[in-house]
Amino acid sequence: MNENFLWGTATASYQCEGGWNEGGRVPSLWDVYLHENNLENGDDASDHYHKYKEDIRLMKEGGHKAYRFSIAWPRIIKNKEGEVNPEGIQFYHNVIDECLKNGIEPFVTLFHWDLPQYLEDRGGWIERDICSAFVEYARVCFEAYKDKVTFWSTFNEPRYYVFSGYKIGNYPPGLDDTQKTIQGSFYMMLANALTVKLFREMKVPGQIGIVHSYAPVSGVDNSLETKIAMRKADNFFNNWILDTAIKGEIPIDMLSILNEKYDLSFMKEEDFEEIKQNTVDFVGLNYYARALIKPYTSGETILRINNKGKEAKGTSKVVVKDWFEQVFDNPDSTYTEWDTEIYPQGLYQGIMQAYRKYGIPIYITENGIAFYEDVPNEESVDDQGRIHFLNEHIDAILRAAEDGADVRGYFVWSTMDIYSWKNGHEKRYGLIGVDFDNNFERKPKSSYYWYKRVCESNGATIERSKR
Ligand code: NOJ
Repeated sequence: MNENFLWGTATASYQCEGGWNEGGRVPSLWDVYLHENNLENGDDASDHYHKYKEDIRLMKEGGHKAYRFSIAWPRIIKNKEGEVNPEGIQFYHNVIDECLKNGIEPFVTLFHWDLPQYLEDRGGWIERDICSAFVEYARVCFEAYKDKVTFWSTFNEPRYYVFSGYKIGNYPPGLDDTQKTIQGSFYMMLANALTVKLFREMKVPGQIGIVHSYAPVSGVDNSLETKIAMRKADNFFNNWILDTAIKGEIPIDMLSILNEKYDLSFMKEEDFEEIKQNTVDFVGLNYYARALIKPYTSGETILRINNKGKEAKGTSKVVVKDWFEQVFDNPDSTYTEWDTEIYPQGLYQGIMQAYRKYGIPIYITENGIAFYEDVPNEESVDDQGRIHFLNEHIDAILRAAEDGADVRGYFVWSTMDIYSWKNGHEKRYGLIGVDFDNNFERKPKSSYYWYKRVCESNGATIERSKR
């Protein structure tokens, strides 16, 4: 692997920080939604707000070269008037300085889903004003950290955020409204372009990208019907983010289908121009699984996601009316308790496809596997299943790099066990176990020691599959 390859791990502010009402942080839409509905929340999360020094020390001892984390907008901007919170600014200076002191490259995301509630109250992502609010927030962050941070991402997983909040309804604001889903998606991509524009205007020394929940599409057979379904699925899962952010073009066949049923008049000519002119430097791909696609057969749209783990194993279902269906019971595959297919070859195929299509640098910004794990034992968790999973996926990345793809970094999700949104704390992804009942004690798992060797050997300790 190239010697500058960034081996790291990743987290997100709401999922790991805690300290939800400390340091001048105002509520995010997640705080309000989870509190109001009496759901398991991230009030304390993994207490990273207080333990970031210990966490960064563990990263260093674990051989990591980079740390991907997000800045919490509600810590930085206090109200809709744009008042800056100096304590919030200082907190991320502390985190970034601690990284730099330990030789760890900060890889910063501006938005990993924790929208300030005062903006949600004004309509959130379905109102045009949100774009300028986001750009102003980005300006404050660029000004504060531009001399310390090289790698910036605007958004984490726009598709997941928008679809879950506005269409599936399992995330706040909990709606099922296709028109709003389209508006939210569009304004997020417009805000992405306007932020890239600002980044260039401010001459921030560094690179800016976007992070996407990548689901490379494959089909059940080679028929024409399947190919058409695959194209629609690719638009649904990937192209509206990747084509838009990287090529500056929203897929026109998708717009034309949507235009038959929905009101797209909110998309202005000058918006298309901004999107065309302001494209990203790199792309972050979060890879968990591919999407295996078959043609649409019948029935209404169903987007059923398993947020309950083993209790609901096998209940996931995705049918997009007139577009495609997703297969969740491929007899040749295994699935996690949360119905995620384990399919490392999809990562190789996905990187190659993305690189051939877009030709820009790629970072694998998330990859990992969740298990139910009992952390409070005396001994550390011996997570051989995770080691096997990570080995196969890193092998796929090494193969893609050998075949010419410009892949420059890899981040395991997640650094430590964290709050997994609607899946709560028991869906554990961490290389470092967290004892949530005992002062959030950190307990590195076997995978942490295994990954240390991978980072330190620059990938040479990966067991390679035969070609
Ligand atoms: C994607 C998201 O970025 C992250 O917040 C989430 O917890 C993981 N994937 C795991 O589902």
